Amino acid sequence: MRSIFEIPTDRVTVAPSLLAADFSKLTEEVQRVEAAGADLLHLDIMDGHFVPNITMGPMIIKAIRPHTKLFFDAHLMIEEPLKYAADFVAAGAELITFHVETEKEPEKTVAELRKLGCSVGVSIKPKTPVEAVLPLLEKVDLVLIMSVEPGFGGQKFMPEVLAKAAKIAEVVRRNHWVKHIEIDGGIDENTVQSAAASGVNMMVAGTAVFRHKEGAKVAIERLHRVKIG
Ligand code: DX5
Ligand code: ZN
Repeated sequence: MRSIFEIPTDRVTVAPSLLAADFSKLTEEVQRVEAAGADLLHLDIMDGHFVPNITMGPMIIKAIRPHTKLFFDAHLMIEEPLKYAADFVAAGAELITFHVETEKEPEKTVAELRKLGCSVGVSIKPKTPVEAVLPLLEKVDLVLIMSVEPGFGGQKFMPEVLAKAAKIAEVVRRNHWVKHIEIDGGIDENTVQSAAASGVNMMVAGTAVFRHKEGAKVAIERLHRVKIG
């Protein structure tokens, strides 16, 4: 299985969120962003419990897996992530990111996910303090900072979460670790600058890529242009 570290951490990378695609033609949509220069594909998994929306399960991931070479980044916004993680990996997910808020013992969750052979990320909601993920930093490959309340695409970016990105970036740098810092929600050509300035290297963008007026290639190029602070 590929590692998330095949994707660089030292420049801005773009993970289009499939949530904003036209679901009546998923293969074409995935291939469209792949050809436009996407670095990986972000897959939003919602269960109607952890978040007030339901999206897709492993079947969809399995169905699109043969049609693209893009690395699959599965963002599990679900209760009991360990109950389903193996199914997502079997379907083709290469990074599993769980939410720290769902777990009583997140260190154990990371250890269990490691057994599946996938890369492992942890995500925090906007109102969750950064301290919830700091003890996990050494053990995970990626931290995903939510910059909207999870559940829906097309929401407004919350700049107040950037202090968490800066803190995480500072701890990573101080320890000479190599980690991905990913942000998700309301990222577009206007908000990307402040995210990168706070140390974020991986930008999830749904609406801003799939629904850009000038097309996905222009959208991704404008996000790629930004330098990490
Ligand atoms: C929200 C999801 C996001 C969302 C981003 O719960 O995790 O990935 O699709 O969509 P935009 O980029 O439209 O804010
Ligand atoms: Zn997401």
